[in-house]
Amino acid sequence: RVFLLRIFTLVALIGGLYALGEFRRRRPGEPPLDKGLVPWLGHVLEFRRNTLTFLERMKQKHGPVFTVQLAGFYFTFVQDPLSFGALVKASREKLDFNKFAAHLVRRVFNYEAIEADHNILQISSNKHLKGNGLEVMTQAMMSNLQNLMLYNVGLPADKKTWMEEALFAYCYNVVFRAGYLSLYGNEPFDSKSSEETAREKDRAESEALFYEFRKYDQLFPNLAYGVLPPGKKREADRLTDYFSNFLSVQKMKTRDNISRWIWDVQQAQEEAGMKESMINRHMFVLLWASQGNTGPSSFWLLLFLMKHPEALKAVKEEIDKVVKESGQEVQQGGPLLNLTREMLMKTPILDSAVEETLRLTVAPLLTRAVLQDMTIKMADGRQYFIRQGDRVAVFPYSAVHIDPEIHPDPHSFKYDRFLNPDRTKKTDFYKAGNKVKYYTMPWGAGVSMCPGRFFATNELKQFVFLMLVYFEFELKNPDENIPGIDFRRWGFGTMQPDRDVQFRYRLRH
Ligand code: HEM
Repeated sequence: RVFLLRIFTLVALIGGLYALGEFRRRRPGEPPLDKGLVPWLGHVLEFRRNTLTFLERMKQKHGPVFTVQLAGFYFTFVQDPLSFGALVKASREKLDFNKFAAHLVRRVFNYEAIEADHNILQISSNKHLKGNGLEVMTQAMMSNLQNLMLYNVGLPADKKTWMEEALFAYCYNVVFRAGYLSLYGNEPFDSKSSEETAREKDRAESEALFYEFRKYDQLFPNLAYGVLPPGKKREADRLTDYFSNFLSVQKMKTRDNISRWIWDVQQAQEEAGMKESMINRHMFVLLWASQGNTGPSSFWLLLFLMKHPEALKAVKEEIDKVVKESGQEVQQGGPLLNLTREMLMKTPILDSAVEETLRLTVAPLLTRAVLQDMTIKMADGRQYFIRQGDRVAVFPYSAVHIDPEIHPDPHSFKYDRFLNPDRTKKTDFYKAGNKVKYYTMPWGAGVSMCPGRFFATNELKQFVFLMLVYFEFELKNPDENIPGIDFRRWGFGTMQPDRDVQFRYRLRH
C-alpha cells in the first residue's frame, strides 16, 4: 500500500510539474525560451513591476524574438518593427484577439462577451466615430467642453483672476466628463426645467461619476493582473455595480443626445438576445475604453507644450490663424466659439504635437491567442514555429516608439517630428535602411485597432484649442521637471504620471 501511495504521489507530482510547464523545452525552429525560475509564474513578477525594463533585458539576452512564461502562459514577443506586418495581417484562424479580450473583460468588468461583440462595435464605430458621424460627435463634444470649461466665463469674480490647479487632475476631469456626456447623452430639459438647470445637473453628475471612476482607475492594474487583495476586490465589484447602474439601458432611455455609437451597440446587443444586466455592464466596459486614455493624454499634451515654449507658440499661432480664417473673433461677453470639424482639419502643427505626445506616453501591449500551430516569418527571412495555446505579443513602446534609429533622440519631445518641411504629415521613418510602416502604434493595429482613434484625436485637439483660445496658462514653477511615468500601467494604454504638477490659468480676453 505504501508503495502504491508513493507511486500515486510521484505521478501527481509529475502531473503537477507538467501542468506547471516545467517540462517544456525549446524545440528546433522555435524562438529562444526563457521560463524564469518560478514554476508557472515564470517572469510575471518582474514583468508586472516594470514591463519595459523586463522586455529590454530579454531582448538584450535573446534578440528581438523570444518566448517567456508569464503566469501559466507562454508569450512569444516579437519586438522587430519591420516584422509587425506578418502578425497584424495573420489570419484570424491562427491569431485571435477576441479570446484574449473576452478573458480580460470577464476578469476586470465581470462582463461575459458574446461572439458578435467585436462585429457590433466595428459596425457602430465605422458609422459614428469617423467620417460624417464624427461631425455630430465633434459638435456634442464642443458643447459639453464649453459647458464644463466656460460656464463661469464672464462672472466678474473670475475676470482676470488666476486660478491654480493640479494639471493632471484638471485635464483628466474636464476631458473625461465632456467625453462621457458626448457619448452617453445629456440631462433633458423642457418647459418645466430650464436648460441652465439641466446643464448644471450635467456638471454635477459627471463630477460624481469621475470621482468614482478615478477610484476604479487606481485599482485597475492589479485588477487586470488578478492580484487585488480581497477587500480591494470587493471595492472593485461595488464600483462595477455602481457604473452599470449609472449607465444602465433604462437610465439612458431618459437622456437627450445619447450618441448613435452607444445607441446602436445597445440595440444590437438587445437584438442578439443579451440580458439587460449584461448590456449595462458592457456600458461600463465602453466607458472605460473611451474615457481611460484621452484624459491622461490631454495632460501630457498640455504639459509638453508648456515645457516647450517654441512648440506652444507654434501651435498657438496656428490656432489663432484658423479662428481668424473662420471669420470668428473671441471676445469677452461675445458668442462662444463655433469650432467645427473643418477647422480642426487645418492644424498640421497641432496634429504633429498630438502624435509626438502619444509616441512618448502611450504604451499598449498587443496580445493574440495562438489557435493553431503556426510559423512567423520575419522581415529578414528567418522563421519561427509557434505553438497552439501560446500567446503572441508586441510591445510597440520599446520596439518602435523609443527606438533611436527610428526616432532620433527618442526621449525628447519634438513637436514637429511628424511634420515635413512643407507642413504635410511626415510618414517616412527608417530602420536599417528599410521604411518602417508601423512607426508609432498608440492605437494598436489590425483587428483590435482602436475604433475610437479619430474621435479621441479630435477630443484632444478640441480641448487644447479651447484652452489656447480662451485662457492663458503656465506652470506654477516653469523649471519643474516633467514627472516620471507610473510603471504599473505599462501595457494598458496611456501612461499616467507618478505625481501631479501645479499650473495656473486665467481668461485671455
Ligand atoms: C488617447 C486615447 C485612446 C487611446 C490611446 C486608445 C488606445 C486603444 C488601444 C491601444 C486599443 C487596442 C487594445 C488591444 O489591442 O488590446 C483600443 C481599443 C479600444 N478603444 Fe481606444 N484608445 C483611446 C481612446 C478611445 C476612445 C475615445 C474610444 C471611444 C469613443 C475608444 C474605444 C475603444 C474600444 C471600444 C476598443 C476595443 C476595441 C475592440 O474590442 O476591438 N478608445 N484603444
